[in-house]
Amino acid sequence: MKHLIDPTDLSVQEIDEIIELALDIIANREKYNDVCKNKKLATLFYEPSTRTRLSFTAAMMELDGNVIGFSDAKNSSVSKGETVADTVRVISCFADIIAMRHFIEGAPLVAAQTAVVPIINAGDGSHSHPTQTLTDLLTIKREKGRFDNLTIGFCGDLKFGRTVHSLIKALSRYENVKVVLIAPNELRLPSYLKHEVCEMHNIDYKEVESMESVMPELDVLYMTRVQKERFLDQDDFDRLKDSFILDCKKLETAKKDMVILHPLPRVNEILKEVDADPRAAYFRQVENGKFVRMALICKLLEWSKMEEKKNELVPAGTLVNQIKCSNPRCISNMENVDSLFRPAEEGEGVYRCLYCEAKAR
Ligand code: CP
Repeated sequence: MKHLIDPTDLSVQEIDEIIELALDIIANREKYNDVCKNKKLATLFYEPSTRTRLSFTAAMMELDGNVIGFSDAKNSSVSKGETVADTVRVISCFADIIAMRHFIEGAPLVAAQTAVVPIINAGDGSHSHPTQTLTDLLTIKREKGRFDNLTIGFCGDLKFGRTVHSLIKALSRYENVKVVLIAPNELRLPSYLKHEVCEMHNIDYKEVESMESVMPELDVLYMTRVQKERFLDQDDFDRLKDSFILDCKKLETAKKDMVILHPLPRVNEILKEVDADPRAAYFRQVENGKFVRMALICKLLEWSKMEEKKNELVPAGTLVNQIKCSNPRCISNMENVDSLFRPAEEGEGVYRCLYCEAKAR
């Protein structure tokens, strides 16, 4: 079965196929009017969402498919204590494909271990958000025409911002991508992404604490919200919440063809006055999310029948039930699942949790 749990579950070629299909859907809408007739998508959302859940719903409806699911797990048997594994096993009896968002990191991977239909990770905790990555890539393709030879500034909450984590992983496979990480010290990108993704893939990256100092270099500015829901300490959030605010003045030194992205929702990190700037692409980005999810649903349904497309959910060399994950938000500490650790690329004796990528020695 082919699932999308992490952006690297898709090869560069598969991403190209999805992007090309999304572009064809945009250009030839009628051609795709009924390609999911009699198919059902289940949207299992354990955490709030506007764009992801509704764009999945709109995507399936525009393909003439049907949608079932829940937008609040309290209204499901989860409230009676049903596990992710059992919930997904049950929903697999009703749906042809499942999109799951969960506040627990690694929940979609557990789902994929039990499901007999494709699982799409629609965001798990502060870990990963691969369908936002596809949205971002389609937007970059449409706005800039390429993925290679770009300097991308990621600004805001790079610690908890799962969209940033996933997009950096995806971009690491293209040529001459430079990454500028703009964040306060407390919200820096997790070290595994710097070491295992940027350094191992020769991505040229630097960390700065001021947006103004790097603005003229950027081809893309990817703004993010400070993720209030991930903070354990309210005082920390209050101190950091206004770290970066983009306004028209700050854009004066930016390239004329720079593109401003934001996965949304925004709070105050982009002032409303910026919306009228032609470089502000974040609402165009939202619409691209629907088209790319249409393409993803079509491709996963097609690939789910192909043995060679199967995900390797537990790769050779994985340590099973030998290390306890240190991350309290990891599914291995919340539900009765095997603990899974893979050898890390960082060096001998270093392991990473398969569910959440927490490090262990
Ligand atoms: N970008 C994104 O994931 O938005 P939602 O939380 O509204 O789905």
